[in-house]
Amino acid sequence: MRSNVKELSAISLNGIYKSYGFKENKVDALKNINIEIAHGEFLALCGPSGSGKSTLLNILSGIDKPSAGYVLFLNKLLSELPENDLATIRSKHLGFIFQFFNLIPVLNAFDNVFYPLVLNGHFATNAAKERALHFLDSVGLADFRDRKPGQLSGGQQQRVAIARALAHQPQVIVADEPTGNLDQATGDAIMDLLVKINHETGTTFIISTHSTQLKERAR
Ligand SMILES: Nc1ncnc2c1ncn2[C@@H]1O[C@H](COP(=O)(O)OP(=O)(O)O)[C@@H](O)[C@H]1O
Ligand SMILES: [Mg+2]
Repeated sequence: MRSNVKELSAISLNGIYKSYGFKENKVDALKNINIEIAHGEFLALCGPSGSGKSTLLNILSGIDKPSAGYVLFLNKLLSELPENDLATIRSKHLGFIFQFFNLIPVLNAFDNVFYPLVLNGHFATNAAKERALHFLDSVGLADFRDRKPGQLSGGQQQRVAIARALAHQPQVIVADEPTGNLDQATGDAIMDLLVKINHETGTTFIISTHSTQLKERAR
């Protein structure tokens, strides 16, 4: 729901530093990052391999902790939340899409979307079934619901992963090189789908990418 009242950012990063390792092995992955990400934003995070994209995405979604600085995620200070509350935020308000899809190989497309909904405890079985079907349909895969990941193309697997992320209706979707493992045409189709979802639902997207196509489409 949008209003004319100026809302606080969906996510803000404030003086974020992240280092790995110690002494001569120390790597400064992030140095003093300050970003405000508005609700409904479609943000592309671009940079060569090793430039800190995954580190930044993991920190803004509370998967990893910064060495210094703080993150506000939907107005909550992530560093002060107990692990339980962090887990709730991630399962309710955040969808994560990965480069290598991360589907469960022994489950068919439907179950890959359905089971997380039930396991998170936010949906009863029948509601979860309806949602899983609805969102598989919305990514054009209703007819492929009985297939396991190994029987789907890369682009189709990524669509299942997108349906899985969408099914929770999270306010924020984070995607770490979602087209990095796909050919150009399939990757473009996936990006079109993400742009469409952003327009239709107002879901905030933060996407790391090498794709020049996406850079042009991002706001
Ligand atoms: N768990 C880790 N331990 C040590 N160094 C890491 C770790 N994760 C990332 N790095 C280093 O941090 C830097 C940023 O990595 P990363 O965020 O993965 O970049 P990108 O996603 O842009 O390729 C790189 O120099 C990488 O080697
Ligand atoms: Mg990365």
